[in-house]
Amino acid sequence: MSTQAPIRRTTVPQIAARKGGEPIVSLTSYHAHTAAIVDAHADFILVGDSLGMVMHGMESTVGVPLDLMIMHGRAVVRGTRQALVVVDMPFGSYEESPSVAFRNAAKIMKETGCGAVKLEGGKRMAETIRFLTERGIPVMAHIGLTPQSSHVMGGFKTQGRDEDSWPLHIKDAKAVSDAGAFALVVEGVVEPLAREITQAIEIPTIGIGASSACDGQILVLEDMLGLNPWVPKFVKKYGALHEAIEKAVADYAEEVKSRAFPGEDHIYR
Ligand code: KIV
Repeated sequence: MSTQAPIRRTTVPQIAARKGGEPIVSLTSYHAHTAAIVDAHADFILVGDSLGMVMHGMESTVGVPLDLMIMHGRAVVRGTRQALVVVDMPFGSYEESPSVAFRNAAKIMKETGCGAVKLEGGKRMAETIRFLTERGIPVMAHIGLTPQSSHVMGGFKTQGRDEDSWPLHIKDAKAVSDAGAFALVVEGVVEPLAREITQAIEIPTIGIGASSACDGQILVLEDMLGLNPWVPKFVKKYGALHEAIEKAVADYAEEVKSRAFPGEDHIYR
């Protein structure tokens, strides 16, 4: 018998059923405290490997280790009660073979308590996606601009500017959908291609820099909060945290320097 109230999160089938319906709301989060705030408003929270760049100052996501994803994934699961938590599989943890992918995805799910994993790649990952989903691991796929392949792509570049490339992207989308992915992140593609992809498949598309032609949107939380001084062009800033933190820290430093901080009698009041 459990002694705790049951946690009822949004489920993978509920996300899949939102195709063409009410837009899916999603944000990234890497910590228990921000995840707890996002939880009431997002259908799913992604513990993205973008944490390597956003939190740990890496130049790309390529260097993110599996253990780091697990540590942050665990924190986000602990901080939330409603949203589905999806954890990114980092570069090198799934590409080698379906069985390597299964071993690492199972480790992520067991050690974090998340409800699904995300991996990058289209047609080339279809066999792995089928292998995982047939064995109980829900997979969110990710195509278009795939940051883990930034070295091959020559940087973070918008995809689909050349219409001749569209059939390849659409083939990728169909391949991961047919393989059993429950949703598809479409990153950094031009709007007409995002529309074509969304119309071509039966699972919801979640856009990031891919327009409102998708079935939902995901943004990196720190970007939309205005915490990072530099954000991609497509990101709308809903806050100005960088400036707010800078001002708070400067005010604090000023007060400490002028000895205007509380005395002993205020401690642990
Ligand atoms: O790592 C990440 O945060 C992501 C999103 C940008 C979709 O993959």
